[in-house]
Amino acid sequence: IDLAEIVGLPDFDAAAKAKLTSKAWAYMSSGATDQYTLDLNRRAFNHILFRPRILVNVEECDTRRTMMGQEAGLPFFICPTGMAGLAHPLAERAVARAAGEANVIYMVSTNASTPLAEIVSNASRPDQKFFMQLYVDRNRPKTEKLLEQINGLGMKAIFVTVDAAAPGKREADERSRAEIEVASGVSGGKIAQDSKGGGIGRSVGGFIDPKLNWEDLKWLRRHTDLPIGLKGVQSVEDCIKAAELGVNAIYLSNHGGRALDTAPPSLYTLLELRRLAPQVFDKCEIYLDGGVRRGTDVIKALCLGAKGVGMGRPFLYGLTYGKEGVTHAIEIMRDEIETTMRLLGVTKLDQLGPHLLNTKALDTQ
Ligand code: FNR
Repeated sequence: IDLAEIVGLPDFDAAAKAKLTSKAWAYMSSGATDQYTLDLNRRAFNHILFRPRILVNVEECDTRRTMMGQEAGLPFFICPTGMAGLAHPLAERAVARAAGEANVIYMVSTNASTPLAEIVSNASRPDQKFFMQLYVDRNRPKTEKLLEQINGLGMKAIFVTVDAAAPGKREADERSRAEIEVASGVSGGKIAQDSKGGGIGRSVGGFIDPKLNWEDLKWLRRHTDLPIGLKGVQSVEDCIKAAELGVNAIYLSNHGGRALDTAPPSLYTLLELRRLAPQVFDKCEIYLDGGVRRGTDVIKALCLGAKGVGMGRPFLYGLTYGKEGVTHAIEIMRDEIETTMRLLGVTKLDQLGPHLLNTKALDTQ
């Protein structure tokens, strides 16, 4: 499939499937067990309807957004995804270049294929902003060394992933055997086979510390001055607790439906948070991901108070075409976001709010 034939992010699914080995496709596309959450992540957005406004001068349209104190050209960022080398030999280097050119924030994975310093040195602009996703290693001194490196590389925020205390059971990934044995250039996590199957997610994440708990936030604070977010928060109770403990950001996520199946779409949790604990929005920035594929999805999340949204698979699939594919995915989203803003009657993202939505269908979720 030619890149020019790809006009919406969902088109990348079939395109990437055709380009990837069946094993890489199984790893990237799969969700946990029955993939109910994976499916619902995407469908949830369609249950919210707009209340568009008309007759507004929308010729000029501003998509800039400040996230964790960093101004970005667009209100979405590229999610951390492990082992981008399976999609293209340039891996995270190509993603970094494309992100920088569009002034989009890239959150780099602890399971990146490429060493961190190399990713950051592939920035395409001197002021390019990177966030870092952190998996805490059972071997704490190793994570402390990584934190030192992150601080030294000028990355702008750290998001600790908290929805991966155990590897999700991704059956397509387990069924398909790995042809290659490679390791992450950051965590050292290795792709390997064992008696359970060929799960890349499970083997690469084998170093992740299941003992990680709330007390460890103090340890983390001692090792970095960067703003800290929790990635993978899935309940209002934990949002309240995280805000009380002073984290800078709450990132609602179910790991793209890859961790606990039948966990709620982040959109449901966001609505629940508005209803039950609106004070949290004043204390921390709220982010969200999972199934975001359309400009309308991004704008809906922003109307409900999200500071920004992440997308994972679409950029990995775009990467199968190298840097150009990632750029193409970004530009499709830019165009859809601008179109959505204009058709809603807004010209700046801070004009968005719940008044532009009808969420009735989800009010009892
Ligand atoms: C992920 N995700 C992920 N998250 C994380 O915190 N660290 C990681 O290393 C990875 N690795 C990873 C690999 C692959 C192949 C996928 C698809 C996902 C989860 C990711 O950051 C994000 O939460 C989801 O991808 C968002 O859902 P969508 O946009 O893919 O639907």
